[in-house]
Amino acid sequence: MKDILSAPFMVEMIRTTTNMYAHGWDERNGGNISMLLDEAEVKEYLDIDTVLRSISTGFSAPELEGRYFLVTGTGKYFKNVQYAPDVNLGLVRLSHGGRTAKVLWGFSDGGRFTSEFPAHMMSHVVRLRVDPANRVIMHCHPTNLLAMTYVYDLNERAFTRTLWQMCTECIVVFPDGVNVLPWMLCGTNEIGEATAEKMKTSRLVVWAQHGIYGAGKDLDETFGLIETAEKAAEIYMKIAHLPRVNTITDEQMHLLEKRFDVKARDGYLD
Ligand code: 13P
Ligand code: ZN
Repeated sequence: MKDILSAPFMVEMIRTTTNMYAHGWDERNGGNISMLLDEAEVKEYLDIDTVLRSISTGFSAPELEGRYFLVTGTGKYFKNVQYAPDVNLGLVRLSHGGRTAKVLWGFSDGGRFTSEFPAHMMSHVVRLRVDPANRVIMHCHPTNLLAMTYVYDLNERAFTRTLWQMCTECIVVFPDGVNVLPWMLCGTNEIGEATAEKMKTSRLVVWAQHGIYGAGKDLDETFGLIETAEKAAEIYMKIAHLPRVNTITDEQMHLLEKRFDVKARDGYLD
């Protein structure tokens, strides 16, 4: 059996949480990540028949029966993942129609998966339907996106268009735009269901006055998605109080669509 700490999925997870902390997106225990793994890759590092303990999830997700996830722990700090991965992360397999998570590795101080597990698992269900290659759900608290939700209309079309206008590459990176949820109580099945509903039409879901969710096929892509939206929000927050003299026009956005072979969300461009 190979050392799980050398597994590519583990190395990537440690690098990503460390990098997210360095970006200031994950103060204290802020943020959480879940990554879908194949049974075949897990088997290289763990005896999948050895279950350390079972934890009730509080929701059902029959579509995820038997699926494996590497997930961050609740109350754990991203900055510490690199020093104690087995305490701050866990590897679980869902059973009983998603109502139970069997811990196969990690959460070694008796901890459990993130309080946002419902939002993660429900979002995985939806994104896997849209794109079977989706493996990662990532939540964090990027400063400028969060700031923008205090001073900008939460209308999804308006929010998306403004982000697209802030950097030329935005419409190319997230042509499906960003969806936005009003402030809701976090860590509940309700916000999980609402997030998953929003994930049907976009890989980015802003939680007003809280943070953002991103979905993607791997950690790098999902990180890059949030990074691009956050960069756009940063530019917006720098210029919001200044007169806007220039912008990226809808005509130019259409040129970007053609050049990069992407299709902007229906009805979002004039
Ligand atoms: P957890 O520590 O439970 O992952 O919660 C952090 C967070 O960002 C809640 O939204
Ligand atoms: Zn959060």
